[in-house]
Amino acid sequence: MTRTIYYTASSLDGFLATSDHSLDWLLSQPVSEQLQGEMEGLTTRFGAQLMGASTYQWLLDNEDLLTNPEKWPYPTPSWVMTHRDLPAVPGADIRFAQGDVAAVHAEMVAAAGDKDVWVVGGGDLAGQLADAGLLDEIEVSYAPVTLGSGMPLLPRRIDLELREVRHDAPFVLARLEVKKP
Ligand SMILES: NC(=O)c1ccc[n+]([C@@H]2O[C@H](COP(=O)([O-])OP(=O)(O)OC[C@H]3O[C@@H](n4cnc5c(N)ncnc54)[C@H](OP(=O)(O)O)[C@@H]3O)[C@@H](O)[C@H]2O)c1
Repeated sequence: MTRTIYYTASSLDGFLATSDHSLDWLLSQPVSEQLQGEMEGLTTRFGAQLMGASTYQWLLDNEDLLTNPEKWPYPTPSWVMTHRDLPAVPGADIRFAQGDVAAVHAEMVAAAGDKDVWVVGGGDLAGQLADAGLLDEIEVSYAPVTLGSGMPLLPRRIDLELREVRHDAPFVLARLEVKKP
């Protein structure tokens, strides 16, 4: 059965990015060969991706995707939630949507087939899914850095059960199940 997983990395104090959307604090961390392999495998592990406008904009800017569309990382369909008229990466399967995440989620599950759905971020979008009872799991890699402020990992209360914790220096990786009523 398809599961919906918020797979992400965070600062120790619970931020996905700085307030100006920088990931320098994360991208400057060393990554082991094993973790690198796990991250590269994400695009085949998941059958669909969901992200908000800021995360998509970060990808556009960071990879200069409108000039280099071949750098678009996802081979499976991606949904971008936005009220804006954002440009699509040429040749990429990107579907822009807005409003109710439940309707979008149903389309994603259908597209994912027997694979899981990846919630890439941001935190409020993951929270919208949790509010709708549609988020199953959170997998988060904590980097050994605090930011003090920034874009939050998950800006609402969600009750979770810790399923697994491991470390792959310098990261602490936690897998948590979302408790459902
Ligand atoms: N650390 C990591 O591994 C990691 C992972 C993912 C992301 N990030 C970074 O974290 C930051 C996240 O930014 P963010 O907190 O602003 O979150 P975001 O989800 O990327 O973007 C939020 C925006 O998405 C749009 N949106 C969200 N839900 C919507 C809905 N239901 N309908 C229509 N539009 C909707 C809205 O934009 P508009 O209304 O303006 O269109 C909203 O302001 C980014 O800098 C990203 O690069 C880091």
